[in-house]
Amino acid sequence: MSLFRRKPLAELMSDDGEHGLKRALTATNLVLLGIGAIIGAGIFVLTGVAAALHAGPAVPISMVIVGIACTLAGLCYAEMASTVPVAGSAYTYSYATMGELVAWIIGWDLVLEYAMGAATVAVGWSGHLASLLDIFGLHIPAAMAQAPFQWCTGPNVQAAVAGCAHVGWNATGSLINLPAILVSVLMTTVLVIGIRESANLNNLIVVLKVGIILAVVGWGVMHLTPANWTPYIPPNTGVWGEFGWSGVLRGAGLVFFAYIGFDAVSTAAQEAKNPQRDMPIGILGSLVVCTLLYVVVSAVLTGMVSYTELNVPAPMALAMQRTGAPNWLRVSIDVGAVLGLASVVLVQMLGQSRVFYAMSRDGLIGGWFSRVHPRYHTPYLSTIFTGFAVSVASGFLPLQILGQLVNIGTLLAFALVCVGVIILRKKRPDLDRPFKVPFMPVVPVLGVLACVGLMATLPADTWLRLAVWLAVGLVIYFTYGRSNSTLQRERDRARAAGVS
Ligand code: ALA
Repeated sequence: MSLFRRKPLAELMSDDGEHGLKRALTATNLVLLGIGAIIGAGIFVLTGVAAALHAGPAVPISMVIVGIACTLAGLCYAEMASTVPVAGSAYTYSYATMGELVAWIIGWDLVLEYAMGAATVAVGWSGHLASLLDIFGLHIPAAMAQAPFQWCTGPNVQAAVAGCAHVGWNATGSLINLPAILVSVLMTTVLVIGIRESANLNNLIVVLKVGIILAVVGWGVMHLTPANWTPYIPPNTGVWGEFGWSGVLRGAGLVFFAYIGFDAVSTAAQEAKNPQRDMPIGILGSLVVCTLLYVVVSAVLTGMVSYTELNVPAPMALAMQRTGAPNWLRVSIDVGAVLGLASVVLVQMLGQSRVFYAMSRDGLIGGWFSRVHPRYHTPYLSTIFTGFAVSVASGFLPLQILGQLVNIGTLLAFALVCVGVIILRKKRPDLDRPFKVPFMPVVPVLGVLACVGLMATLPADTWLRLAVWLAVGLVIYFTYGRSNSTLQRERDRARAAGVS
């Protein structure tokens, strides 16, 4: 039964001086952190792919579906984060509600969301930087612009995707993705230096990227061709997920990536000035702002250019070009993407380092992960480790491999947080809950169904890879975490004291 031992809430919330992080984040910082983590590659790239291949002009419906699913999960995160306001987010909540084994699984699963998510976006950042530099006649040497190999599927080879000569691994002619490593190292440095410095950089980036997106929307609204919205949901091609309502759902599974990040706010609970009040504001505020932006941006994008043309790496830039936008606006999109993706990398790595910090405090991974820098008050070793892992992954692995598990891993975490809320209400009805999920248990139950439903839209091999990832995690837990867990040690100590 020790697999299901739960960490007492009082213990979770006691913050000892040695591990103390700095409480520096205000409600505004938290909302902006959420927006910083959310708006990135998803809106700048995936909206076009989702429209061209799956949902057609109805991609805003996909956005609304995901927005609703994320709001259901976001409400559950908000209750958890205001009730248990400590670092570690979904990992910590599961430790308090579902026990150590589930907590470990979630902690390990969150690596897919935060570290792999950051690496995926770092590779996207590299591509956008290259296109921005191109405008100024500067070129990143080919040997340093991408991973040495890319993975090609049968359809890739048939469609003659660049560099795909045969199915499987194909050499790209490059050695390393240096810009991806650069952004990972830069963001790691800021994170080590301080939470306030990280929040300030994020605030600045968010203001710029949202401003640029609003400028694009403003231009787009004046250059719409309403005929592009007809048919609004193109007929199904005969394949599940290609247009028709199944395409709208498949599109939702894809653009879910664009929403990932609002939950990263909750990992920083221990660094918020007034977490009980401000965590729900940060989580739900950023989610609402981004949902509105996404629905408008995707509607405007498909109104400017026919959805059939949007399967390109930079759909917004294409729309600007087609509608004869001035040069400064076209350049701003690249600037917005470069800045925007950088803040996603920043906040995702912030989330990962805080999850490692929390797991280390509980003894499930090495103690050094929770060491706090004496001057900067940041978990610097877990941050540096995260930065190293993200740099290596983004420098040497292609986008197709990195991006595969991010959505499914995140959806699993969301579903478990929804379950956790129900369990905690039952087990500890006495707790002070500054924010409460309305309509219990309807909201969390619908949250679980929505997340599992979105997981069901993902390809079968993604599920298989998730299973392999979780199996590797279980091996690590049973060989290290279980016997080193702080709770286990306390129990051993108590038993030894009882015997003597
Ligand atoms: N939501 C983040 C992005 O779209 C992960 O880049």
